[in-house]
Amino acid sequence: MMNEHAKHDVRAVAREFQIPGDFLSAATHGSGHINDTYCAVFNQRGTPARYILQRINHRVFKDPAKLMQNVHRVTEHLGRKIADEPDAGRRGLTLIATRNGKACHCDGDGNFWRAYIFIENAHTYDVVESPEQAYEAAKAFGRFQKLLADLPAPRLHDTIPGFHDTPRRFAALETAVGADAVNRAKLAKAEIEFALKRKALTRQLLDANLPERVTHNDTKLNNVMFDDATGEGICVVDLDTVMPGLALYDFGDMVRATTSPAQEDERNLSKVTMQFPMFEALARGYLESGSDFLTGAEKKLMALAGKLITFEIGTRFLADFLAGDLYFKIHRENHNLDRCRTQFKLVEEIERQEEHMNQFIESITDGTHAARSARKPRKPNVKN
Ligand SMILES: Nc1ncnc2c1ncn2[C@@H]1O[C@H](COP(=O)(O)OP(=O)(O)O)[C@@H](O)[C@H]1O
Ligand SMILES: [Mg+2]
Repeated sequence: MMNEHAKHDVRAVAREFQIPGDFLSAATHGSGHINDTYCAVFNQRGTPARYILQRINHRVFKDPAKLMQNVHRVTEHLGRKIADEPDAGRRGLTLIATRNGKACHCDGDGNFWRAYIFIENAHTYDVVESPEQAYEAAKAFGRFQKLLADLPAPRLHDTIPGFHDTPRRFAALETAVGADAVNRAKLAKAEIEFALKRKALTRQLLDANLPERVTHNDTKLNNVMFDDATGEGICVVDLDTVMPGLALYDFGDMVRATTSPAQEDERNLSKVTMQFPMFEALARGYLESGSDFLTGAEKKLMALAGKLITFEIGTRFLADFLAGDLYFKIHRENHNLDRCRTQFKLVEEIERQEEHMNQFIESITDGTHAARSARKPRKPNVKN
């Protein structure tokens, strides 16, 4: 990875944190799209030790101080709960305080920085390689929710208010259709019709009377660190969007992001499919961690959540296409329409298999199939 001191003085930033030893070097790290992430190396009595230094993207997160209050509370709570587990230091993020005891450092340019202990001998993956990996990721996110289910009051801050307010997202689409600001509605007739037909879907999770929980809200595969030796999903990272929400938003977004083998902007829609073995693996992994804290209603709605979140993101791409690409960056003509189409195709694929998905969830939660119960997961099937 290239050495990068031109943009930010990482050495000066590193000095602000309670990191023992002498700063040796820093380089950009990982493939995250939101923050600037660096790996900094320190000489600690002859032994090199690595740390993560991150500049928080304050264009996306308007209130980094509140965000860091969330991150601080969440990492402390997780750390306390897993303190007695073997290898606890690699199973949760550990924040390093600044020299004056704060959770983050604000530099002279108004940038907010934080430091974490580097999780060694583990990696993230951008694209899912197997159902086993999907299982491990879902298990890790389920465990994350479970450990935070008893986070003491007060409620965490909403770092992005209304993030999964699906009816509000839908209303924004209706407004964009009505305004047709850049005269593109004619290019998206089928997609607009597809969306309008499914308006009732937008309220289905909100009206199901589900408990508010602490959720991650960015359950992409590359926010889980996998142990190099065992392949276990050992640690959930990227806590910027941790906030109050419905557990199923996280599960639904895993279904959206992991079950289709196609890219989010794939133009050949025949490549967009809901691969059942991936769904099975996600459901098993999630319930492996979640079976005892999730309510029956939450478990029942797992397939629906996948459909709803996929629909929600599709409507956001469509609304942005109609408004003239104001939010999602585009790299080609009709890019946001292409993105909308992959999401809506996946919605269709889920609809086609929804009954089967629901039956599967039932079979691993109702105890009638003891050998397939969520508590004793069979290794997910790698084939097909
Ligand atoms: N504590 C850590 N130890 C090792 N690697 C990490 C750590 N935290 C983050 N990373 C790596 O850096 C990448 C980007 O960090 P992340 O917090 O996900 O930022 P972004 O919000 O930009 O996605 C992660 O995908 C992961 O590979
Ligand atoms: Mg990330």
